[in-house]
Amino acid sequence: MRTNLRRAAVLAVALLLSVGPSAHPLDSEAERIVAALGLRPGLRVADVGTGNGDWAERIGREVGETGHVYATEVDRDKLQTVDARLKEAGLKNVTTILGTQEDTGLPPGCCDAILLRMVYHHFTDPARMRVSLRSALRRGAPLVVIDTEPQKNWRRLEGVPDRGGHGIKQEDLVREMTADGFEVVARHDDWPGDGARYCVVFRRTNGS
Ligand SMILES: C[S@@+](CC[C@H](N)C(=O)[O-])C[C@H]1O[C@@H](n2cnc3c(N)ncnc32)[C@H](O)[C@@H]1O
Repeated sequence: MRTNLRRAAVLAVALLLSVGPSAHPLDSEAERIVAALGLRPGLRVADVGTGNGDWAERIGREVGETGHVYATEVDRDKLQTVDARLKEAGLKNVTTILGTQEDTGLPPGCCDAILLRMVYHHFTDPARMRVSLRSALRRGAPLVVIDTEPQKNWRRLEGVPDRGGHGIKQEDLVREMTADGFEVVARHDDWPGDGARYCVVFRRTNGS
């Protein structure tokens, strides 16, 4: 009897170990970004500083034909690569925009959500970019900033404010944003990726 019980216990443990802990639905970064931006078909979303366009393409698929994505860059060559990539992918709901360090190039009130992934610390004129971002963001809409605490061993960025390394402290980001008409909606300190990443979701303050 006791042997049977022991066998049953061993089997139960083996079964649990083989199944493992159930995966959290928001475990992957993509799922977390989709949730933070509140993506659904029909939304108009900006991916500011799109880089190679990975996230613009992903968001374009999420918002579908009735939605729209504005993929901005200050690097003309990168934007050309993104254009080619989008053409290849057959995505017609993504517009690329060549911005500057003072202006996103986004139309006023265009966006139901904005993503800045590993971009804010690249801004050489963050104050002007904040004004431009605020003007593009619809009232109540999320502005999702994913960034890293300053990394001393990463390459030095020319022309950006000295923040003790490549990146920006979460507290400095929140201080700069809240001084310029944004409020914090949510903070995530456990963001995946290299460095010490975090995600802060902002929206425009009421009445502004
Ligand atoms: C580290 S990459 C991140 C790319 C992309 N967001 C991603 O997560 O893969 C930073 C990008 O921001 C772009 N960038 C820097 N300042 C910018 C600005 N003021 N407006 C738009 N893009 C900018 C850079 O050219 C670069 O492609």
